[in-house]
Amino acid sequence: MTQQDHIRPGPRHVAIIMDGNGRWATMRGRPRLFGHHAGAKRVREIVEACPDMGVKYLTIFGFSTENWKRTQIEVAGLMSLFKRYIQKEARALRANNVRVRFIGDRPGLDEKLQSLMDELEETTQGCDGTNLTIALNYGGRDEVARATRRLAEDVAAGKLDPAAVDEETLPRYLDTRVLPDPDLVIRTSGEARISNFLLWQSAYAEYEFIDTLWPDFTPKVFAEVIDNYTNRDRRFGGVKA
Ligand code: IPE
Ligand code: IPE
Ligand code: MG
Repeated sequence: MTQQDHIRPGPRHVAIIMDGNGRWATMRGRPRLFGHHAGAKRVREIVEACPDMGVKYLTIFGFSTENWKRTQIEVAGLMSLFKRYIQKEARALRANNVRVRFIGDRPGLDEKLQSLMDELEETTQGCDGTNLTIALNYGGRDEVARATRRLAEDVAAGKLDPAAVDEETLPRYLDTRVLPDPDLVIRTSGEARISNFLLWQSAYAEYEFIDTLWPDFTPKVFAEVIDNYTNRDRRFGGVKA
């Protein structure tokens, strides 16, 4: 068997837990928000690197349902950063043929941000290059709970037969219903946990936990991580062919 036999196709869907902005800033004696700004700047290069790497879907974790526990200053700074990011990046995203979607509990976000999110989804609807999904006010458990609520409503309305509920049913109610499952989940900053990200969807994802802090995550590092993935053997519970 040659080396070639082990090479797998690249990941079609990559999800990233963009962690380490705070530590990156602290190391430089700067406030945490300085790190969040540096982190937001990185997103563009990574999105633009996707087509060359064969990545059709990129999903990034921007703010979790647990991140409200942070100081009011940090939370408010992040919310204005998201608004600014959407306004500043909209043109480049469209020019790069990027279709943007948001997942997470939208009603929990401020109205101005919600309307910017709706607008960006609408104005990139016709783009058919990279599919960028941004998770804002997202928690995997919260998503499953919201999905279950909608599923139960359909049962109560007589639209869904409980006996027909199987593994294919719940995903149709998740925020990610139009997306394939992630093939590869990357977490930066050295933490080896998933922090409530894409719980259902990542059941068979490959994970890469890397030490690089998010603001230092360059397309070169991205390419290295993807390269590692192609050398892995995904078995999905079966045996090696
Ligand atoms: C990730 O960076 C960005 C968000 C959670 C919004 P952190 O802010 O968690 O950075 P660290 O983990 O404190 O370094
Ligand atoms: C996960 O990072 C959330 C985002 C990257 C948006 P956290 O920094 O919030 O996760 P914990 O607290 O280390 O688990
Ligand atoms: Mg963190």
